Amino acid sequence: MVFPIRILVLFALLAFPACVHGAIRKYTFNVVTKQVTRICSTKQIVTVNGKFPGPTIYANEDDTILVNVVNNVKYNVSIHWHGIRQLRTGWADGPAYITQCPIKPGHSYVYNFTVTGQRGTLWWHAHVLWLRATVHGAIVILPKLGLPYPFPKPHREEVIILGEWWKSDTETVVNEALKSGLAPNVSDAHVINGHPGFVPNCPSQGNFKLAVESGKTYMLRLINAALNEELFFKIAGHRFTVVEVDAVYVKPFNTDTILIAPGQTTTALVSAARPSGQYLIAAAPFQDSAVVAVDNRTATATVHYSGTLSATPTKTTSPPPQNATSVANTFVNSLRSLNSKTYPANVPITVDHDLLFTVGLGINRCHSCKAGNFSRVVAAINNITFKMPKTALLQAHYFNLTGIYTTDFPAKPRRVFDFTGKPPSNLATMKATKLYKLPYNSTVQVVLQDTGNVAPENHPIHLHGFNFFVVGLGTGNYNSKKDSNKFNLVDPVERNTVGVPSGGWAAIRFRADNPGVWFMHCHLEVHTTWGLKMAFLVENGKGPNQSIRPPPSDLPKC
Ligand code: C2O
Repeated sequence: MVFPIRILVLFALLAFPACVHGAIRKYTFNVVTKQVTRICSTKQIVTVNGKFPGPTIYANEDDTILVNVVNNVKYNVSIHWHGIRQLRTGWADGPAYITQCPIKPGHSYVYNFTVTGQRGTLWWHAHVLWLRATVHGAIVILPKLGLPYPFPKPHREEVIILGEWWKSDTETVVNEALKSGLAPNVSDAHVINGHPGFVPNCPSQGNFKLAVESGKTYMLRLINAALNEELFFKIAGHRFTVVEVDAVYVKPFNTDTILIAPGQTTTALVSAARPSGQYLIAAAPFQDSAVVAVDNRTATATVHYSGTLSATPTKTTSPPPQNATSVANTFVNSLRSLNSKTYPANVPITVDHDLLFTVGLGINRCHSCKAGNFSRVVAAINNITFKMPKTALLQAHYFNLTGIYTTDFPAKPRRVFDFTGKPPSNLATMKATKLYKLPYNSTVQVVLQDTGNVAPENHPIHLHGFNFFVVGLGTGNYNSKKDSNKFNLVDPVERNTVGVPSGGWAAIRFRADNPGVWFMHCHLEVHTTWGLKMAFLVENGKGPNQSIRPPPSDLPKC
């Protein structure tokens, strides 16, 4: 039998689709309320498909993911695929009023994006109001078909999502805080895969159990989905080998404690090296700023070896104390890009845009804030408290709508003072929708400098649309002469969310190779709400694949 050439080509395409591009993965996310009970409190929460945490999205690198998000709740909804680069597909990024208008109640929107050049653990979450407290889940990006991990294949993989449980409705919590001008309440428990573990005076309603067999290795895909707290994570009697963060492989290293900030993901191997028994898993907050209130409750779960009798007592462990800066630093300083032939670290060596951004709090006048003594706590970058527009910035940019934003976001702070020392007498900020414009393919360095205004604090700063390299970290005020000499430009960790140390700074570098409007903000939800956010506007390039794609026809309208 002889086939015409065209048909043979078609057969080849069908037989080896992975050579051409990846598979198509389709998901439906029904956003619905669900009654859930935790720590003896029952409430209606907003969920995806009735699950808390929500469903896991699985894909191989190069696959295209289509998620039909159907909004069946009374709130506006949008979903962000945290860490997915969204090359030229900013329309699918998700932050409400930045890249899209939210999906209104009764409406739906199909997020359509391709996973390119990333592999590991990421996650998705609501990116409007405080809905991400319960609307979140994992994204697992497996290597391209046929490609192995650059480390021994684990016996099994397990997603572990760290989060919070709030007895009150989180929208009520944030609204009350905004009315008063004061800080919102903290959560009432931390949770591991939706469960807090042992809670005094409240019988267990089911806890997360990691079932293992002695002698086997397990891969834990860890996500911090908590709104407002960095967390330590530990397993009694076991050590981790960290192999990847934020969907980028790292040089494997061993540790008994993992530090993970809101927004970050960490993949670690654990070998079940004990003969049998039950071992406590614990997650507890890291906060080394004495003045900031945190939910200090420890969430627990157990590792359960097969064949262990249920009467066997659980071996316990205690997480590091809340202010264990040295434990946090040891972990953070161990992170290095794998930087192998197959997975190189392409650190920008020269910098076109050299930016210094102060990140911190401020205090503005507020006539209605009686509880806050007629002032309110705000947050800012370079003293600018970001004002949310009423139209999505990406649409405004794409369709040349005027009067929605300006592109004069300052490259340096206007006022220079001892940032981490004595705060200035006037802590007022300016409210504006300012973007920083970047030509396509320019290289950018941002030094994120914490301030001690109101309180020094850790700020997990997240950038949409890019990974960046963390070329330096330090305490006190950044010194451009001394500190830049010590930058790691060889194998710095590459990620999408960096913990700026309390009273210190972090220097990041990235290449602006993704046209669009990209949000950058503190991943502590309270700080985002207060205005610790800005956006980069990356212009189109001149090449054929260097422009943002046209918007999908079902893109929501404001
Ligand atoms: Cu995970 Cu803009 O957030």
